[in-house]
Amino acid sequence: MIALGIETSCDETSIAVYSTEHGTLCSKIFSQADIHAHFGGVIPEVASRNHIKKIKPLYDECINESKISAKDIDIIGVTNAPGLIGALFVGVSFAKGLGYALNKPVMPVNHLAGHILSAELSYPDLRPPYTAIIISGGHSHIFDVDEALNFSLICRTIDDAAGEVFDKTAKVMGGPYPGGIYIQNMAENGDRNKIKFPTAFKNELKFSFSGLKTSVMNTINKGEYSNEDIAASFQYTIAKTLADKVFYVANQMNRDKIVVGGGVAANKEIRRVFNELRGSKSVYFPEISRCTDNGEMIAYAATRFYKFRKFLNYKGSAYDTKHSIGLL
Ligand code: KG4
Ligand code: ZN
Repeated sequence: MIALGIETSCDETSIAVYSTEHGTLCSKIFSQADIHAHFGGVIPEVASRNHIKKIKPLYDECINESKISAKDIDIIGVTNAPGLIGALFVGVSFAKGLGYALNKPVMPVNHLAGHILSAELSYPDLRPPYTAIIISGGHSHIFDVDEALNFSLICRTIDDAAGEVFDKTAKVMGGPYPGGIYIQNMAENGDRNKIKFPTAFKNELKFSFSGLKTSVMNTINKGEYSNEDIAASFQYTIAKTLADKVFYVANQMNRDKIVVGGGVAANKEIRRVFNELRGSKSVYFPEISRCTDNGEMIAYAATRFYKFRKFLNYKGSAYDTKHSIGLL
């Protein structure tokens, strides 16, 4: 089966072609990060307009480089939730138009399910059941995924997402947007045990990062510690908070495999701490290039969800849960 994957939920326009026989034939990502960096965050209307500009050229390039013709596509997977509504509309409308023109089914794919399943692209033998944690600019969510690909949300943040705290900390330190890599680099020359930052809800099935964020902001403003030590201590606190919770959930659900996904999963310290604390569990991080938003994970997810035969009809739209698959 050949799947086309379309991803436009935030500020990456991405198209990929995935073959169940030959793997990924092409994956193209146009990141708008430089455009939004100027504003210090993603401007939804600007994101939508850039998706409109880029989606068709990326699609053409992807088909050419895959050395297939459009009629070889068996299924079109498209992110339909969650994300910026205007940005999602661009991808969903493009997918529906293409599906109609080529007479191919269009499968709506939940973005978080895409992030989770992208670990299977990096580890081809990996299959559920597993515990999955998605850490990104918008999410800090833990799911249980069973053999039948049912995704159950077990734990989520009640306020900020992990990525938001990285971005906010970088901003206050005078760094760029997005700030995850800036903090990671800054932390390399700091002491992770220098400052004790708070962790909320230690033994409950929820995250909260706003207290940590405030504590980090206050520490920066006081000027008692170097930015290097603050970055290292903050990064270690968030890594340990995430790891402790995901291992706790995995134990509760009796799962021995942990899948990590989303942009923040690219972080080196988070990888290190998860491995330090994993005990007898196996931890699966996708390759760094697969952590941030991409169409490859959506194409792959479409092939994994194909058995459900849940396609978009001409009325199907972004955020249409009736036509969304993988997660509600
Ligand atoms: O998954 P993603 O590309 O987009 C969303 O769906 O949000 O994640 C973007 C987030 C940003 O907050 C960015 O700062 C963070 O991922 N990020 C990192 C690293 N690389 C990207 N955070 C920490 N360390 C990194 N190396
Ligand atoms: Zn994402």
